Amino acid sequence: MRLQGKRALLIGAATGIGRACAEDFVRNGARIAIADINSAGVQEVIAQLGPLGASAHGLGCDVRDEASMREVVRDAERLLGGLDTLVFLAGAMRVGKVDTFEAETWDAIFAVNARGTFLAAKYGAPALRRAGGGSITTTASLAGLRGAPGMSAYAAAKGAVIAFTTALALELAPDHIRVNAVLPGWIDTPFNRPAIDHMGGDALHSEIVRRAVPLGRQGVPSEVSPMYVFLASEEARYITAKAMMVDGGMAH
Ligand SMILES: NC(=O)c1ccc[n+]([C@@H]2O[C@H](COP(=O)([O-])OP(=O)(O)OC[C@H]3O[C@@H](n4cnc5c(N)ncnc54)[C@H](O)[C@@H]3O)[C@@H](O)[C@H]2O)c1
Repeated sequence: MRLQGKRALLIGAATGIGRACAEDFVRNGARIAIADINSAGVQEVIAQLGPLGASAHGLGCDVRDEASMREVVRDAERLLGGLDTLVFLAGAMRVGKVDTFEAETWDAIFAVNARGTFLAAKYGAPALRRAGGGSITTTASLAGLRGAPGMSAYAAAKGAVIAFTTALALELAPDHIRVNAVLPGWIDTPFNRPAIDHMGGDALHSEIVRRAVPLGRQGVPSEVSPMYVFLASEEARYITAKAMMVDGGMAH
């Protein structure tokens, strides 16, 4: 029960890593609001939580839209009676070589990953300040540090998330708000389908993962969510401005 008494807003938690976070947060005693553009997915998460679903509120949002983000933070704060933790997980990826990559697609990738993270912080930070402090956890990617062929837009957007997270941590430290990024490696969710196809399909991807990841396999969402729980907990109270990799040893 590492998050007993904590009130958390998880944005982008209808599927994948975010869904695992929602489950882990309530199991650890948090009361949560789950927001996503996929409203049906949000309802599924709450249904899957069973009796624990009583600790969860579902909200719709589009992280690209400023009014939507202002509203979702306001609604979460009202429903939970305040906010101690904001976790931003929403992401979007498109792959392609730079010379044929559409500028509109570049903007779309930045809109979800970078602008979305900024808007969540813009409205989340004042809410956390009203609670006397708290934590923000963003989601970047190993690609944001190391790049990857065919992923220049995604890597650049996640690199922006890492830089933003560091700057925000310095800005918000005097308000007792810690800000950290989680950098997952290869995690088995449908999110990676475009990247796997770009790499030549499942068999080639498996071979690449086996060689690149010292632990020899992809991770699963429930192997990443404990990092988010830790960062939101009191155990992490001296940890800020960090990029925490959960990658089976891939970056070494
Ligand atoms: N799976 C991986 O290997 C991997 C690796 C590194 C980083 N990540 C990052 O982890 C995060 C979660 O990824 P995942 O693998 O769980 O994928 P996912 O597709 O299951 O999760 C992404 C979530 O973001 C939501 N979302 C997308 N656009 C949105 C919008 N405009 N407004 C609100 N919500 C929106 C989706 O509905 C979905 O619930 C993403 O930020 C992704 O970039 C994933």
